[in-house]
Amino acid sequence: MSALTIFVILVIMTTSHVHCRGGHMSGKKITVQVENDLQVDTVLVLHCRSSNNDLGEKTLHSGQYENWTFNGNPSSTTLYSCDIKWNNKQQNFTVYESTKDEATCTSKCYRGISAEGIYFFNEFKNTWEKRYSLN
Ligand SMILES: *[C@@H]1O[C@H](CO)[C@@H](O)[C@H](O)[C@H]1NC(C)=O
Ligand SMILES: *[C@@H]1O[C@H](CO)[C@@H](O)[C@H](O)[C@H]1NC(C)=O
Repeated sequence: MSALTIFVILVIMTTSHVHCRGGHMSGKKITVQVENDLQVDTVLVLHCRSSNNDLGEKTLHSGQYENWTFNGNPSSTTLYSCDIKWNNKQQNFTVYESTKDEATCTSKCYRGISAEGIYFFNEFKNTWEKRYSLN
């Protein structure tokens, strides 16, 4: 075997070992929090779910929030959507999508629903970004 072959085998062994260790680590805890930032006295009815976790319907007065925590699973796609109702209006939006949001938050996946739209907190940049408009 040439030195290059041995080197390549060593690199493969090292990287697969790291990959293996990563796979044994339990996923990071992700916390998503949704706050009613609509005008005072505007009641928001929030119903969020993923394919295997239904959080049920929650009534949030302005300033109130709901949060929940789950294990971020790096090998599968986690997707939570929420149905929101306020002032006889209704909308459904994606509140957490691992493919997109792993890069923006872990323990502080905060979302604010305001008259200007639905804002997502970027924990790593410490900024709020508008992701959706309200219908
Ligand atoms: C989740 O909400 C509870 C109150 O309902 C609060 O005490 C807690 O700090 C919140 N968790 C996070 C991670 O913000
Ligand atoms: C939002 O809409 C999607 C696609 O129609 C649906 O699969 C999902 O269950 C809805 N979410 C809620 C919380 O109603």
